Amino acid sequence: MFTWPYICGKFQPMQFQLSEEHLMIQKAARDFAQNECLPGVIERDEHQKFPKEQVSQLADLGFMGMMVKPEYGGAGMDTISYVLAMEEISKIDASVSVSMSVNNSLVCYGLQEFGTEEQKQKYLTPLAQGKKDGELYIGAFLLSEPEAGSDATSQRTTAEDKGDYYLLNGTKNWITNGNSASVYLVIAQTDVAKGSKGINVFIVEKKWTGVTVGAKENKMGIRASDTHSISFQDVKVPKENRIGADGFGFTFAMKTLAGGRIGIAAQALGIASGAYELALKYSKERKAFGKEIMHHQAIQFKLADMATRIEAARLLCLKAAWEKDNGIDYTISSSMAKVFASETAMWVTTEAVQVHGGYGYVKEFHVERLMRDAKITQIYEGTSEVQRIVIGRGILK
Ligand code: CAA
Repeated sequence: MFTWPYICGKFQPMQFQLSEEHLMIQKAARDFAQNECLPGVIERDEHQKFPKEQVSQLADLGFMGMMVKPEYGGAGMDTISYVLAMEEISKIDASVSVSMSVNNSLVCYGLQEFGTEEQKQKYLTPLAQGKKDGELYIGAFLLSEPEAGSDATSQRTTAEDKGDYYLLNGTKNWITNGNSASVYLVIAQTDVAKGSKGINVFIVEKKWTGVTVGAKENKMGIRASDTHSISFQDVKVPKENRIGADGFGFTFAMKTLAGGRIGIAAQALGIASGAYELALKYSKERKAFGKEIMHHQAIQFKLADMATRIEAARLLCLKAAWEKDNGIDYTISSSMAKVFASETAMWVTTEAVQVHGGYGYVKEFHVERLMRDAKITQIYEGTSEVQRIVIGRGILK
C-alpha cells in the first residue's frame, strides 16, 4: 500500500512540484471561480438556484469531461488536474463543483471505463462536452434509495428482464443533478436472490416515459445544487443500455465511487482552504485589544492548525489522484483522502467562523456557507463510517 515512490518496482523520485500545465489548469479554475462563481453565490445559495450558467461555462472550459479521452469529447487531462480544479472551484462554490464532480467521476468515468463503443459514441461524447445541440447535457448517478444509502446492496429498485428490454420500477433519493441531468446511470436489482451479483446498471434518459423528477430537497448546504428524488414507473430500458455483463452493477458502483471519492475529497479540501484563506485575510484586517487579531497567539494557533491539516488533506488527495493516473489500486487511498479531507473541512470551517466572531455568523462573510457546505462531504459518496469500512477491510485483507 505505501508504495508511492515506486512504480512497477522501480524507484521514482517524489515530485512535490506541479508541472507548468498543472499550474495553468489551477489558474484557469481559480480565475473561473473568482470571476464567474463568486458573483451571486450568496443569492444562489439562499434561493436554491441551480448554477446553470456556471456549469455551462465549465463545459466550455472542458471541465465537465476533464479525464475523458479527446476522441470521446473529453479534455484528456489527468486526475491531478481534476483535483486542482475541484479545489479551486470548491473554495468559492461547492454547489457548482458537486455538479462537475458527479459528471466527471461518476458518469463519464463509468461510461469511458465500462461502456460499449456505441454507448460511448451516443452518451459519453456529449456528456464529456457537457453540451448537446448547444444545450447543457450532463449526467447523474442513481444509487441511493429511501432505505438504502450506505447499505447499497439493499436497494429496492428493480429491472425486470423482458427479453428485448428491462422494465424499471422504483425510486432513487438524494440525486445530484437530478433535474438538470439528461442522462441517468441507474443501479437496480435484476435478481434479488443473487445479492450483490444480482445488480445491474442502466443508462436511462430523463425524457423517457415513466421517469418522474420529484421535488427539490431543501438542504442545509450546497443549497444551489440540484438534489431530487427520481421515480421510475414501468420504464422500458433497451437491452443495449445495460453497462457491462449481467450482474456487474454493484462492482460498477464500487469501482466508480472509488474515483468519485477523490473528487469529493478535493471538494472538501477546497471548502477547507477557501475558509482558511478568508480567516487569514480577516485576521490581518480585524483589530482587537489594540492590534490585528493575527498578532494574537490564540488566532495564530488556529491558523497554524488549519494550514497543517489542509496540507495533509491536499497530499492525500494528490496521492490518490497520482495512484489512479499510474494504474495503482486507489480504493484505500481515495477513502483515506475523503474521510480526512471531509473531517478537515468540517473542522476548519468551524474554526474559520470562530476567527470571524459575530461576522462569521452572517452570510456576507461566506464562512457560514462554507461550514454548511462542508457537512455534506462527510455524508455523500459514502459516509465517513463507510470510508472507514473500506479502509479497514483493505488494510486487513
Ligand atoms: N471494487 C470492486 N469490487 C468491489 C469493491 C470495489 N471497490 N467493493 C466491493 N466489491 C465487491 C466485493 O468484492 C464483493 O464481491 P464478492 O461477493 O465477489 O466478494 C461485492 O462487491 C460486495 O461487496 P461487500 O460485501 O463489501 O458489500 P457490502 O454490502 O458489505 O458494502 C460498502 C460495502 C463499502 C459499505 C458499500 O456498500 C458502500 O460503499 N456503500 C456506500 C455507497 C455510497 O457510497 N453511496 C453514495 C451514493 S452516490 C452519491 O452520493 C453521488 C452524489 O450524488 C454526490
